[in-house]
Amino acid sequence: MKSPQGTSDDSDLVKARIRAIRAAHPGNLMARHFDADYFASLDAPKRDRLLRIIGSGVENPDSQMGAYARDAEDYDEFAALLDPMIRDYHGIAEGEDIAQQHDWSGASSRCDLAAIDPALSGVSMRVRVGRNLGGFPLPGAMTQAQRLEFEALVAEAFAVLREDPQFGGHYLSLTPGLPHTIGEAEYQRRVAAHQMFKDMSGDKYLRAAGISADWPYGRGMYVSGAEDFLVWVGEEDQLRIMAMARGGDVARLFARLRDGLERLGGLLPPFAHSPRYGYITSCPTNLGTAMRASLHLPLPGLTAGGADLGAVKKAASGLRLTVRGAAGEHSGAGQGGLVDISPRARLRITETGIMRCLYEGAAALWSLEQEGDAAPAP
Ligand code: ARG
Repeated sequence: MKSPQGTSDDSDLVKARIRAIRAAHPGNLMARHFDADYFASLDAPKRDRLLRIIGSGVENPDSQMGAYARDAEDYDEFAALLDPMIRDYHGIAEGEDIAQQHDWSGASSRCDLAAIDPALSGVSMRVRVGRNLGGFPLPGAMTQAQRLEFEALVAEAFAVLREDPQFGGHYLSLTPGLPHTIGEAEYQRRVAAHQMFKDMSGDKYLRAAGISADWPYGRGMYVSGAEDFLVWVGEEDQLRIMAMARGGDVARLFARLRDGLERLGGLLPPFAHSPRYGYITSCPTNLGTAMRASLHLPLPGLTAGGADLGAVKKAASGLRLTVRGAAGEHSGAGQGGLVDISPRARLRITETGIMRCLYEGAAALWSLEQEGDAAPAP
């Protein structure tokens, strides 16, 4: 299904294919909630749009979600399919009000892991939010010209931010031939330092959704002088805004992001936001706060030196955390059993709720790890 045309012949093929996916991959939420009668009720242009939204999930049967929005409006216009998928993924019953709320007050509180154990005073922490501007399509539907236009618009904001005493830094573009374009060696150095994103066409889901198209045009990154405030341009969302730190003070990390977000947001047109789903993102898994907060916890005991994530995953799910290897999505545990833990919820939880979940979850896993150390002597 490389280029869905939306003809009735194609539609029949797609319907049969989705039926087959539903049988073979019950975890694919697009296939689970796809309703052939709803699809047939749409006019041809809308059928075509819907086929493009679900294209990644059709092309990749092993998808968990299986759809990416291409316009902020898609979430309302195609709610008949997307809303049940969103509720299923985020665990919200049908008919229950979503009405996403935001609250950053936790960033002003005290929330330091070093107070629990000084050994946690140097963990690697990161929190990011996805943001998109209402004036552009979402990345899957952007033309190369729009990607460049978008980059030029945010570059103007970065030119102001560069002079800011707190957030001053520089913009590094991957677009060939711009004044701030960086070379391959600098790009690879930034990727290795976990600052810059990888070539997205390596991700089959993003590739099928058209999100990685036109690489590297319109892609880049702003980085503050202290390298603790970063903005990705042109990844899965138009903007991924993040704060990074080594330490244990989770509240301080959140405050850094909140302040930078306010500063940058003030220099840009408004972010796309829905009263129901909160901040609009390409992937329905990220709606709501659009926030992923994580930290790297050394859990050699619980992971058998990094060999087995099973026990940690089990403990973590009760704490509403997801666990992955320290090297990113779909990776094993890193050296010394270093794992990346992150609150699973994005939607119908506030920013403060995510912060508390991360802090309390890290504390709970750490105490499990210590209990293992202190196994009773025979
Ligand atoms: N589209 C993929 C799926 O449905 C990825 C979902 C979550 N990951 C992400 N980077 N948005 O499984």
